[in-house]
Amino acid sequence: MSEQLSEKFKEVLDLREKAKLGGGTEAIEKQHKGGKLTARERIEKLVDKGSFVEVDQFVVHRCYDFDMEKKKALGDAVVTGYATVDGRPVFIYSQDFTFVGGSLSEMHAKKITKIQDMALKAGAPVIGLNDSGGARIQEGINSLAGYGEIFYRNVQASGVIPQIIAIMGPCAGGAVYSPALADFIFMVRKTSYMFITGPKVVKAAIGEDVSFEVLGGADSHTKLSGVAHFACENDEDCIKQIKTLLSYLPSNNMDDAPIIECADPPDRADEELNEVVPADPKKPYDVHDVINHVFDKGSFYEVQPNFAMNAVVGFARLNGRSIGVVANQPMIYAGCLDIDSSDKIARFVRTCDAFNIPLVTFVDVPGYLPGTKQEHGGVIRHGAKVIYAYSEATVPKLTVIMRKSYGGGYIAMCSRHLGADVVFAYPTAEIAVMGPQEAIEIIHRNELMKAKTPEEAKEIISRLVADYKNKFANPYVASQLGYVDAVILPKETRLALTKALEALITKRELSSRIPKKHGNLPA
Ligand code: HXC
Repeated sequence: MSEQLSEKFKEVLDLREKAKLGGGTEAIEKQHKGGKLTARERIEKLVDKGSFVEVDQFVVHRCYDFDMEKKKALGDAVVTGYATVDGRPVFIYSQDFTFVGGSLSEMHAKKITKIQDMALKAGAPVIGLNDSGGARIQEGINSLAGYGEIFYRNVQASGVIPQIIAIMGPCAGGAVYSPALADFIFMVRKTSYMFITGPKVVKAAIGEDVSFEVLGGADSHTKLSGVAHFACENDEDCIKQIKTLLSYLPSNNMDDAPIIECADPPDRADEELNEVVPADPKKPYDVHDVINHVFDKGSFYEVQPNFAMNAVVGFARLNGRSIGVVANQPMIYAGCLDIDSSDKIARFVRTCDAFNIPLVTFVDVPGYLPGTKQEHGGVIRHGAKVIYAYSEATVPKLTVIMRKSYGGGYIAMCSRHLGADVVFAYPTAEIAVMGPQEAIEIIHRNELMKAKTPEEAKEIISRLVADYKNKFANPYVASQLGYVDAVILPKETRLALTKALEALITKRELSSRIPKKHGNLPA
């Protein structure tokens, strides 16, 4: 090789090495001391070994204000490229906090939007690993423009490719809206936070003292606000969980999720499942026990496990196929629907529908939670989202009515009337406008008022409740009308769902028979 040629080759190799240092060794050390991996280490842990191909490694910013021309790093605080995870292509951007706090410049944004565009054209998930001080202050409007371009693409890609964002450091101001527009948000405990305005501004604006962690830490957003879906212990745990989530998702809206070979027989009939749902409608039980018995062993991956816990949503597998599971949780508020659980269910149903993941809904719902707090908080418009999401969904929809299924809750929880393809009910199911006691007190008010003593009233009530229960509080009226397809024993659920899914897997349905631009989801 000529000396001239080898010099040219050396130049590129040197530049590559330089780019790997980001903001320099001191800043990398600081990152590690803070309990965080670097942008490149995170990518390495996420992707199949040796599969990452970097794009735009030599990009630098072009800002000349505030002496920024003297402060440059190859890559401009974000590492971007493509790779495979479990053999499937993904597109990645990973912000590098070691250079100007991972802040987003015009060129940094262009790197991200290039990856978003590539992912959308290829039909592969885009994964963002966020660790950034937000808009690069020195670049002013150019960095804001960059965010706008990213948000626009988030919306274009919504429902076409999975968008997964992990918050692994700061995420403040308008920067929070790209994650908010994505499908799933992971957060790392203690090292990540998300907020519109930080603690200092909060103190100045409204005098409130609050820590970073309480204002926008992983626990606040996965328990209270519902902004984030998964809280992780550290960077490694976060990356592991992203891989788990990916295993349930297809690469795009035209694709199906991978089928995982299943050692769990589809006709497994657990006797214990017959004992999980108590006949007494007032007795609580943990709906996880039903879910874990029915689906492939160990396959349930819960989404938003700590938010709106009166509803349970998550992914599982049935005979190796990805399923979106939705269930009422009788242990919390007796499984009532409320504002937060409605949002949680509606969002999850729409995610599954966008990505061709069949839905299985387990129902034990006394209705919507009553009271001024809920009414004034807009339970009507939030509750409407559940009805909207199920009605709009065209994936196979299978429903199991386990016990209470009253009133609006009955309709909303994927009833036949909203397009459920198959509805099963357990012998303990009670499908009615409302619970027996409440119903009797309304329709027999006059008769009850005639009672001379409280004992007499009690006697009349118990007789009328027994009559009402005989008539309505069972699955047979609904099955006589064909609203329930079959009454099954709980232990038969796994096989019944597997067979129904096999029959329906080729289901094709338009979400609307009338051409339209888009519907108007209640908000
Ligand atoms: C330019 C920034 C920066 C930013 C951090 N840095 N954020 N540079 N623009 N937004 C630089 C710091 O000057 C510092 O540079 C280096 O990054 C590391 O930051 P530190 O402050 O030393 O780190 P730390 O103590 O860990 O604090 C991190 C931080 C803090 C909490 C994120 O840096 C911070 O408050 N930054 C500003 C956050 C912010 O208000 N961003 C704008 C949000 S509004 P040196 O040279 O000293 O190493 C927004 C609008 C978007 O993003 C709108 C979209 C619609």
